[in-house]
Amino acid sequence: MPAASRIPRHLAVIMDGNGRWAQQRHRPRIIGHRAGARAVNLCIDFCLDAGIGALTLFAFSSENWGRPEDEVGALMKLFINALDREVDELHRRGVRIGFIGDRSRFSEAIATRMAHAEAVTAGNDRLALNIAASYGGRQDITAAARSLAADVAAGRLRPEDIDEALFDSRTALGDLPPPDLFIRTGGDHRISNFLLWQLAYTELWFTETLWPELDAATLQRALDDYASRERRFGLTGAQVAGAQNGMSPA
Ligand code: IPE
Ligand code: IPE
Ligand code: MG
Repeated sequence: MPAASRIPRHLAVIMDGNGRWAQQRHRPRIIGHRAGARAVNLCIDFCLDAGIGALTLFAFSSENWGRPEDEVGALMKLFINALDREVDELHRRGVRIGFIGDRSRFSEAIATRMAHAEAVTAGNDRLALNIAASYGGRQDITAAARSLAADVAAGRLRPEDIDEALFDSRTALGDLPPPDLFIRTGGDHRISNFLLWQLAYTELWFTETLWPELDAATLQRALDDYASRERRFGLTGAQVAGAQNGMSPA
């Protein structure tokens, strides 16, 4: 298989472990979130260098709204600062920024900055950077179902015309290939309501490394591991090998 196809087209990341990183240093959790911002830049740089076309970062889940008010408030401030600081540079580097998740829960200050970041970078095509904020995989699937149901109720769509491709087009990231590789830092082995629909055949990779400690070597290990895996998509190993050699499946 050509080397290029061994690079994920789309990488999805759960950036976890900020709080524990701070606690290990006897500092408040928000210090960990601040340190985590550096790792976000490192991860974006890595993707640009590696030629990865799309990166989806889980920044804040639907469930994270339930955290203590001071932590949520501090995260929102960090979010505003990061948008004010980074968008111009990301634009210069050819990054297209998009946000997925329930925007109605954010303040006007944040919603305006999100819309601005998307509008400014809309024409870029080097890296599609998707920030999942106020995002939940179940909510994503529910919203897709609701939008299809509304079309059926209005007589614009017949139930029998609903297939996987149409459903996919109503979910977040419907315009991108699904993630090839998923990385979760922080040592926990779970999906935590991230991209439930989109991760159906994604390769999963977990590391104990806490998000603020992320380095390029760790990301490279994930990519090397990904490159060594055989993705079968339900077929047999022999069928996959045959297809790679240009033969029809046995
Ligand atoms: C991930 O780090 C960032 C967010 C969820 C906003 P955590 O804050 O979950 O860090 P831990 O898991 O408590 O260490
Ligand atoms: C997942 O991390 C959400 C983000 C990284 C934004 P959590 O820390 O919220 O997940 P759980 O609570 O350990 O499952
Ligand atoms: Mg966590």
